Order: sequence, then C-alpha cells, then structure tokens
Amino acid sequence: MKLGVNIDHIATLRNTRGTPYPDPLKAAEIAINAGADFITVHLREDRRHIRDEDVFNLKKNTNTELNLEIAAKEEMLEIAKKVKSYSINIVPEKREELTTEGGLDIINMHSKLSSIIEEMHSFGIKVSLFINPNINQLKYLEKSEIKPDIVEIHTGDYCNNPLEKKLKLITNTAEYINKLGIECHAGHGITYKYAQRMKKIPHISTLNIGHSLISEAIFDGLYSVVKTMKMIISN
Ligand code: PXP
Repeated sequence: MKLGVNIDHIATLRNTRGTPYPDPLKAAEIAINAGADFITVHLREDRRHIRDEDVFNLKKNTNTELNLEIAAKEEMLEIAKKVKSYSINIVPEKREELTTEGGLDIINMHSKLSSIIEEMHSFGIKVSLFINPNINQLKYLEKSEIKPDIVEIHTGDYCNNPLEKKLKLITNTAEYINKLGIECHAGHGITYKYAQRMKKIPHISTLNIGHSLISEAIFDGLYSVVKTMKMIISN
C-alpha cells in the first residue's frame, strides 16, 4: 500500500502569520525522506492554504509524484496543465466548507468529467475522481464513457463514525473499482487506527492522509524543539 502525504496544513499554519515558514517544500522533503510515495496538495479556489507558487515550487524541487487536488474548474485545469502534475484528483469544492465534505456526483457531471479526463490524458496527467463509497456511482461509471485512471473513496464518514456497515461499503466499493480495472485510493480522516483497518482492504492501493499526520507531527516534534529553545536561552 502506498502513502500520499497531504501537506496543506503546513501552508495553513504559514498563512496564519504571513511568515515564510513553515515551508511546504521542506515538509514535502521530510515526507519523501520518510517514504511518502506521493505528495498531495489541494489548491482551493480561495487559496486558503496551498498557493499557486507552492504547487510550481513543489513540482520543480521534489522528485516524488505530485497529486494535485482541484475542483473541476477551468482556472484549476489550466494550472494543472502548466505544472504537469503526475495526477489531478477532482473533488467537489464548496467555499464555506472546512474540508472536502463529500464526493463527486459522477452522474450529474458526466460530460464535464469525460472531457476533463480526455484533455488531461493528452497532457500525460492521470485523473482521479473522489467519490463517496457508493455502488450506484460505479454502476453508472461502468456504462459511461468516463474513464478515470483512479477513483479515490472518501473515508471521512466512516472515520467520523466508524460503523461496521460503513467499512463494508468501503470494502465493496473498492472491490467494484478494482473490477472496473481502475486503481483504487482512499482518503479523508484516516488516523493510525483507521489506517490499520484500510490496510486490510485488499483493493485499496494508496491512502492519502493529511490532517492526522500533521497533527501527530506536532507532538512528535514539540519536546525536541522546546529542548532546543531552552538550550539557546540558557547558554
Ligand atoms: N483525499 C482528498 C481528496 C482530500 O480532499 C483530503 C483532504 O484535503 C484528503 C484525502 C486527506 O484528508 P485528511 O486531511 O483528513 O487526512
């Protein structure tokens, strides 16, 4: 199973003070050194965390595949083509939401999605669609002309309220995606505990994780930085 590390929150922290630090590029380098297989960033329309220059900077200065999460909007697709990310992950985006709250409605967006996929493929960019665990969406996908490379399952609902039936639905959705010959990824709300459960689902090949990793990183590092600061001011 591969790991995509989402570093949006590094940019969130940077932007709260307008300082150049913490630098998302530095976070990406650490994640890559630790074994991250992908770096994932969400370039939101309101640019609340990752900004255009971060995306170009990451692409230019890291040698790991860049997965760019974007809304299906012309402005974002133009940026994806310019930066030539490894993949784009199309997500529904609402300005007022705290994070990506749900999956795409493939049925309503079918003509838009199939033309985006065709265009991105002509630029050598893989396309991932972010959906809720839902077999109906996949049955539609099966019969349609939409041919994504990847489908990512939104695991947020399960991680917020981990009922066994929700895990079963994620498992069945992953199986169906695999049956369609599409790569299956999963993401949202995944912590160490839920990663253990996702690992057992045979058809999920990649997890995209951000919030819990950056949160754990604070507590992994806080002891050491307080020690360093004490040393500086004591000498
Ligand atoms: N996958 C997608 C499509 C997302 O939008 C996000 C959040 O930006 C994630 C994965 C990662 O979710 P989390 O930050 O909860 O780990």
